[in-house]
Amino acid sequence: MEEIILKAENMFKEFGATKAVSDVTLELRKGCVLGLVGENGSGKSTLSSMIAGVYPPTKGVMTYKGEEYRPKSVLDARKAGIQYLTQEQGTIDGMTVAENMFLGEEDQMSKMGNVSIKKLNLLARKILDENGMNYVNPKAMVETYSFEDRKMIETARALSHQPAILIIDETTTALSQKGRERIYEIIFEQKKAGTAIVIISHDLDEVQKLCDEVLIMRDGVYVDTLKGDEINAHNMREKMIGRTMEGSYYRGDFECTYEDEVVLEVKDLSVWGIFSDVSFELHKGEILGIGGLSECGMHELLKTVFGAIRPTSGSVTLVQNQVALKNTTVSVKNKVAYIPKDRDKESLFQPTSIKDNIVASSYDKIKKGFFIKPSDEKKLADEQAKKIEVKMQNIEQLIRDLSGGNKQKVVIAKWIANESQIFIMDCPTRGIDIGVKAKIYKLMDTLKHEGISILMVSEEMMELIGMADRIITMKDGRLSKEFTRSKDLSESTIISAIV
Ligand SMILES: Nc1ncnc2c1ncn2[C@@H]1O[C@H](COP(=O)(O)OP(=O)(O)OP(=O)(O)O)[C@@H](O)[C@H]1O
Ligand SMILES: [Mg+2]
Repeated sequence: MEEIILKAENMFKEFGATKAVSDVTLELRKGCVLGLVGENGSGKSTLSSMIAGVYPPTKGVMTYKGEEYRPKSVLDARKAGIQYLTQEQGTIDGMTVAENMFLGEEDQMSKMGNVSIKKLNLLARKILDENGMNYVNPKAMVETYSFEDRKMIETARALSHQPAILIIDETTTALSQKGRERIYEIIFEQKKAGTAIVIISHDLDEVQKLCDEVLIMRDGVYVDTLKGDEINAHNMREKMIGRTMEGSYYRGDFECTYEDEVVLEVKDLSVWGIFSDVSFELHKGEILGIGGLSECGMHELLKTVFGAIRPTSGSVTLVQNQVALKNTTVSVKNKVAYIPKDRDKESLFQPTSIKDNIVASSYDKIKKGFFIKPSDEKKLADEQAKKIEVKMQNIEQLIRDLSGGNKQKVVIAKWIANESQIFIMDCPTRGIDIGVKAKIYKLMDTLKHEGISILMVSEEMMELIGMADRIITMKDGRLSKEFTRSKDLSESTIISAIV
């Protein structure tokens, strides 16, 4: 067994009445990859946050490199060699890339002599280049980059000082295939360099592939540690939800079923430099899947359909009333919902409550005359949050205090509350645990049978095959192929149409 580098013993964390972590003990070893697995809200990010100095434990003792370890802050932990790639955005708007990269290290830098901004930028340039990111400008404001690029900037920063411990929290599912592979490479390199690595992921195949050991949590408590051959999706699933999962995960049928009526027509849609000449029809009661590599333009296509990006040419029309979806206001008014991949930035008000977020798009529905009764608001939000099982104290809880996957559930609840007729979903199950994933699939199936139409982009081929009536694939900004729902459709058939 490799040398233990950090031990966290009998860790507890309470937030008011929430017991986020209760009596969990964990050991990190040199050159070993530990997986942290559990349902949404089971305490994975909280446990990592304590190790990374985000906040102190309510109770518990940590020993790092043989000494008691009590980080006072994230910077403190970073200086000690512990790097945490968080689940959410880890860079700060309003600062340049270089400033973000050296945030909090200014004092150390000035000890090396008078550091000028110029030197800082040069150093950032060097680190970015070493990480294959020569396209990033250290002087540019960080918010001009995509979520993915910002994650990679954060990663480059974390690796710029060789860390002793690297914690990667649900990062891979937010990235494109390319980004994901880069993270796998990093894990491989870091493992060789003797870094202790923690991986948090809901992609159980990924966990199986990468981890030497897997620690399973449920409702904040320790369940078990799996090693070697014990690490497989079946074992992990069973231990994390406490029972075996029954019934089929995706839709049970293999029929392509939808009504003849076309509800949404996309015609010759182009956004210059991103995608061109995209045309398709979405039918009533249809789940239409779009598959491709992350860079193929499909995410932008969805945004454009919803009216959040202005197309260079082409049109998006609601057939029934011949309304053009020119902007998001028109879309929302016409009961078109949009669930983005980057939920934190695009669809939630972090400092407000679950209730406020859920009712935000439904005021018209619950308004009686000019008034909205607080009790109606409460009822609507409560019903919807419970329907999709948001793990919360109550609906007054702030969004920012929810676990990552539970935030995503609130986004979905919000649009269902609004009785949307068309759902545009971009990777709807990203960061969602397998139990809830199954529920979302059920929900999609129910919506479909109620005559609601769903346009879904996904990077998981199995999700497309499992749920869609038709799948259209995109490649380099153009539609490449179309597949109809069938038992014989395989992952490799679809992949061959997108790469
Ligand atoms: N700052 C906070 N204030 C109040 N409650 C919090 C706070 N942070 C986390 N919690 C609660 O602690 C519990 C554990 O959350 P945590 O984020 O650790 O879950 P997780 O296992 O990382 O889930 P996910 O897979 O969804 O990311 C949740 O019930 C969450 O709402
Ligand atoms: Mg988390």
